[in-house]
Amino acid sequence: MNTKYDTALVNKLNFEDVLLNSLPNPVYYKDIEGRFIQCNTSFSNLVNSSKEDIIGKLAYEFFPKETSNRHKLIDKKIMKTLENYLDEIVFPLPDGSIKYFTLNKAVYLNQDGTVGGIVCVMNDITQRIKEKELLIQQSKFAEMGEMIASIAHQWNEPLVELSAQVQKMQLLYSMDKIDKSNMSTFVYDMMIQIQYMSETLSDFRNFLKPSTIKKEFGIKKALKDIFEIVGKQIFYFNIKVNFDYENDEEEIYIYGYENELKQVLLNIINNAKNKIVKINEDKNFIGEIAIKVFTDSKFNIIEIIDNAGSIKEDVKKHIFEPFFTTKFGGTGFGLYMAKVIIEDKMLGSIDVNNILNNVVFTIKIPKKNN
Ligand SMILES: Nc1ncnc2c1ncn2[C@@H]1O[C@H](COP(=O)(O)OP(=O)(O)OP(=O)(O)O)[C@@H](O)[C@H]1O
Ligand SMILES: [Mg+2]
Repeated sequence: MNTKYDTALVNKLNFEDVLLNSLPNPVYYKDIEGRFIQCNTSFSNLVNSSKEDIIGKLAYEFFPKETSNRHKLIDKKIMKTLENYLDEIVFPLPDGSIKYFTLNKAVYLNQDGTVGGIVCVMNDITQRIKEKELLIQQSKFAEMGEMIASIAHQWNEPLVELSAQVQKMQLLYSMDKIDKSNMSTFVYDMMIQIQYMSETLSDFRNFLKPSTIKKEFGIKKALKDIFEIVGKQIFYFNIKVNFDYENDEEEIYIYGYENELKQVLLNIINNAKNKIVKINEDKNFIGEIAIKVFTDSKFNIIEIIDNAGSIKEDVKKHIFEPFFTTKFGGTGFGLYMAKVIIEDKMLGSIDVNNILNNVVFTIKIPKKNN
């Protein structure tokens, strides 16, 4: 009798072992102290350690410290509430590359009903994240035309200045009036112009780099960077820009992807600018773009407001859809990407409203500890 049950049990355990080890997803389970009790081959391959080396260890040995700290709190919470938990993590590999996973966590109970620990199934979403990042990167190129036009504007003045200096140098040389002191003044003045040109280029290059990790950054500084790049264009079209910060003295910090948020803001600002420029062609109109930044208990909020006429209801309904555009030659990709970046990547929200003759884009980004 016993032997029959023993054989059935051994068979079942063997079956579960094979099942666990043939899963492509890394799977592990831990006791209530957070020590690994078991894992499958996919997990041991991922962390590049044998099962014997893994069992009995804590997550700190295999996951980045910040992730382990966060999950220690999550584990504690779900062992009380018995709820499942889904999270996204970044997992650095020994070769320096990065993988992205979702962690599905569930609490398991012992036979007597007490909490036994946590089972975790990991899912590799690197490919999906990379594809989304690629899309975001590509859509950045849509803004590039405007940015290059803007750099061309910004380079115009220093180029005129540089060529004036060179000609002056040549003139003085032909009159045999070049000495050590005016030579060093020339070099100094010309280097200032060159430095300015190189700064505008590096702002542009920085913007093109993808931000790969969420971090805290100052929104005032980010807006300043954006206006370093496109400010001259806006100024050139006589558009007034108003900054309205809740707190004038201090920086306001946002938790998220800096370059991607800059891309969103740039798109909204460019849309407003293009609308204003179009109206300017017809009549004498003072276009204005206002940018407000403030906070409530849960969110950092950015509003971008333009005064160049409301959006028709049938346009407003579709405005965040991919490829929706009312412009000749427009891609209709900008606001769709804005939605992906703000809502999918940064877990916030983006909306648009007409308030009288103004269009208001509202971006809400959750504060770090919400
Ligand atoms: N501030 C605004 N006021 C009125 N309509 C707007 C405003 N911003 C966007 N829209 C409308 O939303 C549409 C979609 O904008 P989106 O930025 O996604 O693409 P696009 O600007 O048309 O194309 P592209 O960004 O490639 O130039 C625009 O074509 C326009 O009709
Ligand atoms: Mg656009």
